[in-house]
Amino acid sequence: MAVKPIRVAMLGCGTVGGEVVRLLREQAAELSARAGAPFEIVGIAVRRPHKHAELGELLTTDASALVTRDDVDVVVEVIGGIEPARTLLLEALKAGKSVVSANKALLAEDGAALAEAADASGADLYYEASVAGAIPLLRPLRESLAGDRITRVAGIVNGTTNFILSAMTASGSSYADALEEATRLGYAEADPSADVDGYDAASKAAILATIAFHTRVTSADVHCEGIRNVTSADIAAAAGMGCVIKLLAICERLPASETAPESVSARVYPAMIPATHPLASVDGAFNAVFVEADAAGQLMFYGQGAGGAPTASAVLGDLVAVARNKVMGGRGPRESSYARLPVIPMGSVPTRYHVSLDVADRAGVLSTIAGEFARHGVSIAAVRQTGVGNGGAAARLVVVTHAAPESAQAATVAVLAGLDAVHGVDSVLRVEDLGRKGVAG
Ligand code: NDP
Ligand code: HSE
Repeated sequence: MAVKPIRVAMLGCGTVGGEVVRLLREQAAELSARAGAPFEIVGIAVRRPHKHAELGELLTTDASALVTRDDVDVVVEVIGGIEPARTLLLEALKAGKSVVSANKALLAEDGAALAEAADASGADLYYEASVAGAIPLLRPLRESLAGDRITRVAGIVNGTTNFILSAMTASGSSYADALEEATRLGYAEADPSADVDGYDAASKAAILATIAFHTRVTSADVHCEGIRNVTSADIAAAAGMGCVIKLLAICERLPASETAPESVSARVYPAMIPATHPLASVDGAFNAVFVEADAAGQLMFYGQGAGGAPTASAVLGDLVAVARNKVMGGRGPRESSYARLPVIPMGSVPTRYHVSLDVADRAGVLSTIAGEFARHGVSIAAVRQTGVGNGGAAARLVVVTHAAPESAQAATVAVLAGLDAVHGVDSVLRVEDLGRKGVAG
């Protein structure tokens, strides 16, 4: 008896969708052998069909009708954005169609609604491509590490910003020049704000934290700072410490204390990491994510985080999973949000600061500055002073702190900036000790 095909509706046929269609066609025989059934594309919804004339009768502009058609088994969403993608996927799931999506913005904002709709109809919901492109990350977290307790997921999940920071580090170029180069090479979009302001990474952090900690975390829960304000002085300051600056997405499980329950932190910001850390050598548009779990220890995932073909690889992996589930008569893993840990506000997160100050070089200045750190309960780990000229009257003072609540660190810097003896705050950067066990100390 002939095996029934898995009938696929495509929503979008751009950078990623175009590659999914190409690979589905070029590798049809092998994909069919792996999935246990052949794939058949039954419709492709786009906005501007004239741009896709080669797709002929498969094309439609009525995405809403396509996702509920009787002859559709699985919907692949590679449109992006919140609407109409959300409505289309909810309609599809309600109609019992399984969904494969690459849409990090939607998953991070309203993944719970999609998961509930999938549960209600018994459909599959897969979204490996939404985080770190080609890198298998969500399935390892959700399935391979299901027997372990994940304590931290931290990494570089935005290729555009990593390209810019790598260029600033390697060639000393300014942020503006590095962004121009990223745009010329096609990494950065005409409007690069989702990347450079950290929103893209924040969406990915929300998805990672949700899966890693069995707790619903949305993009609104993620503290987000981008790289627009990273200066050449910051890069030099990091180099002086044997560090590099990376835009990090950090998802952490914070242990319970006497005053607070166990909680979760999800945040995105540029931070100094030791040049010897594996993440430091991840350059250009590559992504890498460092995972720490109680039993497994430290794991690192590395590869291409964007681009049509790499992202299509992740979409096709999900499609094969959906097909196997259909052939075998089962379902993929459901959403796991049983832990319901609170997400703590950024002000309470323990962070370490590296502060570079231009100060008056006279008796008592160091003690005044140290006193402000002490007054805010921030312990100093190291201090370095160098003369910067002005007849010996000015000096550069670099202070590196131990971990203390972010609100105390920020309040200290605000007070320091107003002191007579402080001529300027050159650079304020967080320092991440990614190998540490726990972060409370
Ligand atoms: P593109 O802009 O290249 O493609 C979007 C596609 O969606 C186009 O074919 C467009 O049609 C179609 N489309 C847009 N709006 C509608 C609509 N209302 N109805 C029907 N079709 C519509 O996006 P990408 O391929 O780059 O990204 C797709 C998704 O993949 C996004 O969620 C993105 O975040 C994610 N992703 C992308 C990566 C990448 O490297 N590009 C990496 C990882 C994830 P038309 O062609 O007619 O304009
Ligand atoms: N704009 C994203 C990046 C694409 O630069 O990494 C992948 O999500």
